[in-house]
Amino acid sequence: MKAIITGITGQDGSHLADLLLSKGYEVIGISRRCSVDNTQRIQHLIGDPKFKLVSGDITDVHSLLKIFQDNEYVDEVYNLAAQSHVAVSFKQPGLTWDITGKGCLNVLQTIADLKLNCKFYQASSSEMFGDSYDVDTHGNKYQDENTKFLPQSPYAIAKCAAHYVTRLFRESHGIHASTGILFNHEGERRGENFVTRKITKWIGEFVGWHQENPTVFENCQLTEYENLDTDYIYTEGKSGPKFPKLRLGNLEAFRDWGYAADYVEAMWLMLQQEKPDDYVICTGETHTIKDLLRCAFEVAGIEDWEHLVTIDPEFYRPAEVDYLRGRALRAQEQLGWSPTHSFKDLVKLMVEHDLDANIQSTP
Ligand code: NAP
Ligand code: GDD
Repeated sequence: MKAIITGITGQDGSHLADLLLSKGYEVIGISRRCSVDNTQRIQHLIGDPKFKLVSGDITDVHSLLKIFQDNEYVDEVYNLAAQSHVAVSFKQPGLTWDITGKGCLNVLQTIADLKLNCKFYQASSSEMFGDSYDVDTHGNKYQDENTKFLPQSPYAIAKCAAHYVTRLFRESHGIHASTGILFNHEGERRGENFVTRKITKWIGEFVGWHQENPTVFENCQLTEYENLDTDYIYTEGKSGPKFPKLRLGNLEAFRDWGYAADYVEAMWLMLQQEKPDDYVICTGETHTIKDLLRCAFEVAGIEDWEHLVTIDPEFYRPAEVDYLRGRALRAQEQLGWSPTHSFKDLVKLMVEHDLDANIQSTP
């Protein structure tokens, strides 16, 4: 089996490549030119005879045409490439549209023009639901495949367009094209400007810094020195060593967070089905950013965390998605998929990873 993955250098691309290689696939990853090395997440795959990186950009149809002509017997194509940051999409809506929306059309049109006989996966998103939800018999809010989309960001609008393009190519060109409407998924490889990783990375660095400056931080209680202003944490008053506080935006939004390695398994399962379809992939648990903070600091043994965080309007968005909690009944029934990591497992895994990266082991 041979698969092409766009977005190979991203969180999901790297996990999916691991999964497919473990199943004996040949994997072709499309990566774009970068002024610095962007292959951190796939370093361990470079040199594997079944793994190949090719240069391309999903906004450039010519590059896609050449790659697909060179790989006409590809079995599966996973379109994971995107400008995937919601806040960035408000600042760069045009670029987001070109990559996240039109990029999907470029890939599908190339497959159709070359009449390739391959299955296609599109990375759709729970962000497409925006402000919309349904209510179950217990009065709880949720989203599933039947919930309408009410997108709240340029990113979500681009994802909706790509979602409908995929359905169109399924219907009009007969392509086995499926979409995974994935809720937030995270892990050790998560980009550092998404809220989970921003928090766990900060905790790792802060605890590491404190280990080198242990003067007053006893029993994880802040002294008056340490909370002298809104920007920094100090250990010996303002003239001593200081560490920038964790700057965040809206702490009240709810998200349904799962583990990325679980979610790429669902992508693969979708392409093993006889018929293409759309599937919600989620845990069914929802928590606020504040819950996440509490849980993450608890893993690091820090109780008095509120003084370490400062609210910065810079990280508020022009429009917010307030509540996401998925219901993955279709994936459970048709794919036999369910998540293996709870919210607590996920947070523990991420905090421990970032603590390990920053704490000196005692000799
Ligand atoms: P990610 O870590 O941000 O990775 C995005 C990937 O897209 C990177 O490899 C990036 O390459 C690549 N890319 C960006 N622009 C490109 C272009 N013009 N041409 C080719 N490649 C390009 O995202 P992720 O978390 O792995 O998510 C994977 C996909 O799932 C995305 O489409 C995302 O929108 C979607 N999604 C993610 C989640 C989630 O919670 N993670 C949930 C729902 C849907 P560089 O390394 O060069 O930047
Ligand atoms: N990134 C970030 N940074 N988010 C913050 C911050 C901050 O400093 N402070 C608060 N938040 C809030 C955001 O306002 C949002 O409500 C929530 O934390 C989650 O933000 P992100 O982690 O950036 O994720 P997202 O939900 O906007 O988008 C992710 O999930 C989507 C699926 O629902 C991305 O992975 C998208 O690509 C994906 O489609």
